Amino acid sequence: MFRGDPILVLLLLTFYFALIKAHNSSSHSLCNKTCGSDRQNFPYPFGFSDGCGIKLNCSAAGKASVGQFPVETVTADSISVKIERKCNRPLKTVAQLFGLNYAPTNRNAILLENCTEAGPGCEIPSILVQTHFSSLSCSSDNSSTISCYSEGNKSDFIDLKRLMDKEKKCDYLLSSISVESLNTSEGPVSLAVEVVELGWWLEGQCQCDVNANCTLVSPNGKPNGYRCICKEGFEGDGYEAGFGCRKG
Ligand SMILES: *[C@@H]1O[C@H](CO)[C@@H](O)[C@H](O)[C@H]1NC(C)=O
Ligand SMILES: *[C@@H]1O[C@H](CO)[C@@H](O)[C@H](O)[C@H]1NC(C)=O
Ligand SMILES: *[C@@H]1O[C@H](CO)[C@@H](O)[C@H](O)[C@H]1NC(C)=O
Ligand SMILES: *[C@@H]1O[C@H](CO)[C@@H](O)[C@H](O)[C@H]1NC(C)=O
Ligand SMILES: *[C@@H]1O[C@H](CO)[C@@H](O)[C@H](O)[C@H]1NC(C)=O
Ligand SMILES: *[C@@H]1O[C@H](CO)[C@@H](O)[C@H](O)[C@H]1NC(C)=O
Ligand SMILES: *[C@@H]1O[C@H](CO)[C@@H](O)[C@H](O)[C@H]1NC(C)=O
Ligand SMILES: *[C@@H]1O[C@H](CO)[C@@H](O)[C@H](O)[C@H]1NC(C)=O
Repeated sequence: MFRGDPILVLLLLTFYFALIKAHNSSSHSLCNKTCGSDRQNFPYPFGFSDGCGIKLNCSAAGKASVGQFPVETVTADSISVKIERKCNRPLKTVAQLFGLNYAPTNRNAILLENCTEAGPGCEIPSILVQTHFSSLSCSSDNSSTISCYSEGNKSDFIDLKRLMDKEKKCDYLLSSISVESLNTSEGPVSLAVEVVELGWWLEGQCQCDVNANCTLVSPNGKPNGYRCICKEGFEGDGYEAGFGCRKG
């Protein structure tokens, strides 16, 4: 048995738990940017641990992903996610693309398969995605129909509830087509097939560098999202807790 001064024991125990607690909270506030063997070159606030403002999934193969979908690129306002054309993938899988800090934007046409009725084309602001989807179809005998879901200009983001209503008519999530640029003066609008574009935001009050602008983001009625962008002449991520903005 341990025989010692009970006060000393109490002190030691208190000290011990304080240490554990400090260790615990410090390991939670750090953002781990390493997935697999490489440090991934994603901007603030992306990473792979709870300490990151936005946590991505790190697959066994060492690839960043959102749910089961691999991430292609992350920019100052969006995450491009690969959504392989796949037959018989339950429509509810699409919910993995809706997180606390990201959601598919209205620049996507979500393709659904085995629908009881074909929808009209998909409307992405400024262009109509023509429904020449038959080449993507999973059945060769017309027993299954492709339908397309888009938000139009009702909202900046796709409404998960409205999309899931399609479940009554469609069984599967086939793929997605997204618009890479809406700027028609840059030439023809380019479409990315098998890609879904997610918009991202941080929650709460703007915490941008003094030399950055704050953009408010309102994902489906939740009004407290924001993103930062450095003013002209400055470079950086724009975030107070990130790199901030430095004279370029
Ligand atoms: C460590 O952190 C986790 C999650 O924040 C918490 O559930 C747990 O109680 C903490 N442990 C200690 C010893 O503080
Ligand atoms: C970061 O995460 C990777 C796995 O995702 C792990 O191997 C590595 O040890 C972690 N690094 C730190 C500093 O926690
Ligand atoms: C992370 O990704 C793997 C495959 O890449 C997937 O099986 C797993 O469900 C994902 N985890 C989460 C929490 O989304
Ligand atoms: C697609 O829908 C049709 C008609 O509802 C059904 O007969 C068929 O089995 C479905 N295909 C698959 C792969 O579920
Ligand atoms: C599928 O439907 C198209 C018209 O909707 C028709 O031209 C084609 O012959 C059909 N194919 C089969 C295999 O039934
Ligand atoms: C939304 O789109 C419809 C047609 O698709 C158009 O009539 C309407 O003016 C648009 N609304 C806004 C706010 O752009
Ligand atoms: C569209 O692209 C052109 C040429 O690159 C550029 O001059 C213009 O500012 C852009 N417009 C918008 C709204 O981004
Ligand atoms: C930042 O905001 C100012 C004032 O609203 C505007 O003039 C400027 O173009 C914005 N800069 C960027 C990079 O968005």
